[in-house]
Amino acid sequence: MIRIRKYLRDNMLRADVINLLIGTYGYKRYLEIGTSKRDENFNKIKNVEGFCIDPEADAEPDFLGTSDQYFSFLDQQDAETRQKSKYDIIFIDGMHEDKQVRKDIENSLRYLNPNGAIVLHDCSPEDERAATPYDELKRQSTRHMGFNWNGDVYKAFVHYKWEVNKDNRNTCFTVDCDFGCGVILTDPRAQEIFPAPAAFTMNGYNADTMRV
Ligand SMILES: C[S@@+](CC[C@H](N)C(=O)[O-])C[C@H]1O[C@@H](n2cnc3c(N)ncnc32)[C@H](O)[C@@H]1O
Repeated sequence: MIRIRKYLRDNMLRADVINLLIGTYGYKRYLEIGTSKRDENFNKIKNVEGFCIDPEADAEPDFLGTSDQYFSFLDQQDAETRQKSKYDIIFIDGMHEDKQVRKDIENSLRYLNPNGAIVLHDCSPEDERAATPYDELKRQSTRHMGFNWNGDVYKAFVHYKWEVNKDNRNTCFTVDCDFGCGVILTDPRAQEIFPAPAAFTMNGYNADTMRV
């Protein structure tokens, strides 16, 4: 697989990818969709004002609810509040389901500041079992406990990269680390800053990253 040379390494964690983008662009506001345990990732994100959401109280989120509920809450605010609520970088790691992630991408783009970035976890499932769609997982849940589940997040990323973004307005690539970190950069100069992703092809993605 084509590695993202120079800036991005395959032994990075999701927090490293996010911190690297924060450092590169000087981002100030960070949103994490799906937090679970703050120490696993959220607390590793440096030099930003962070906000996290999760429907589970155990995660001790800043907003207790789903991503849909959070974006709907923002939509109900006045224009000034909505503007102030925008983020520079959003990490999508909530419900690992194609249709939910498509919504998360769409909503995140609406609440992203100019030149902002989205990072999606779990874009490179290890194998077919790890990529089991949520409905199927529920059906088989007792047989498939105790493995890392990535779900079909990758479908939403592929759909965004090749269908929604077919005019290449945004720069999209997957960093081959930590179960695959999909990156969407809205900076029009992103290709110059991260030149290698330009060579990242759909065939490369299919052959190596998805492995399903
Ligand atoms: C894989 S964990 C997140 C891990 C964390 N981001 C990290 O990097 O360590 C997924 C979390 O998403 C939450 N979640 C599930 N459905 C969600 C939704 N619709 N919106 C937001 N969060 C959701 C779950 O409760 C769970 O805590």
